[in-house]
Amino acid sequence: MKHLFKKGADGSRPTLLLLHGTGGTEHDLMGLGEEIDPKASILSVRGNVSENGMPRFFRRLSEGVFDIEDLKLRTEELHEFIHDASKEYKFDRSNVIAVGYSNGANIAGSLLFHYADALRGAILHHPMVPVRDMELPDLTGVPVFIGAGTNDPLCTAKESEDLKSLLEGAGAEVELHWENQGHQLTMSEVAAAKKWYNSL
Ligand code: MLT
Repeated sequence: MKHLFKKGADGSRPTLLLLHGTGGTEHDLMGLGEEIDPKASILSVRGNVSENGMPRFFRRLSEGVFDIEDLKLRTEELHEFIHDASKEYKFDRSNVIAVGYSNGANIAGSLLFHYADALRGAILHHPMVPVRDMELPDLTGVPVFIGAGTNDPLCTAKESEDLKSLLEGAGAEVELHWENQGHQLTMSEVAAAKKWYNSL
């Protein structure tokens, strides 16, 4: 997968896995990652799917309607990629925290839904429920920050509440943070995510 890796100044910090939104690239969230933890290593990945030239992490049938088969395949592909990257760049595979926005938050959510050990934690900015009616792995104690919008037209408040309860049902420790700026990722949401991260 196309990606950027930046080695952090402090090897004991987590590696931040940055996952962009639809139409983004691996460059988009570098500033966000550095804001969350300036000393962490960063692995920023570009989605392998193209929707009319816009990179995404998995196919969708229409806005908000996912191609579940592709989602599963792409989740597995990303999972393997993180493993391979940890060997290549020599970072601790068990200490990876995802930071995703929108489509990137959805594939991060899908990693949590499919694998018990994919992520040490996750910051999900404006995610949806990636897949419904599936049994989640044991996520006991996995910390998850969800940044949601009371008036987000894509990732509705109900979707955010559902995601929280599904993750909590699997044992994850979820903080749900509300904004009211639609689907936008605002500075106050980033500040809340950073505060949450620093409390881990
Ligand atoms: C998705 O397709 O993952 C969501 O609709 C969010 C987005 O537009 O990327």
